[in-house]
Amino acid sequence: MTPWHDVGEPGDFPDGAAWPVRLNGHEVAVFRLGDALHALADRCTHGMARLSEGYVEDGCVECPLHQALFDIATGVPRCGPATEAVRRFPVRVVAGRVEVQA
Ligand code: FES
Repeated sequence: MTPWHDVGEPGDFPDGAAWPVRLNGHEVAVFRLGDALHALADRCTHGMARLSEGYVEDGCVECPLHQALFDIATGVPRCGPATEAVRRFPVRVVAGRVEVQA
């Protein structure tokens, strides 16, 4: 079974920004959008850019290299040049701690 990893408290994640973490060999970017937390692979599907270094706006993160736009909740690209979705990782809050399954 894929393990859950404690990555902090909800307040550790600034709204509208990304937080990079390395979990079980996976580079993961954790995002908070209002009350919702999301975790995506920290790699653009078009190249090697880190999405945790991208610009967050309107529920999307913009790749810092060629400006592909990914929906943070789904990982699906809304704008090229990327055409493949970014992998999503499950996120939950247990007893006030944020956990990511990876
Ligand atoms: Fe992200 Fe090219 S590396 S759009």
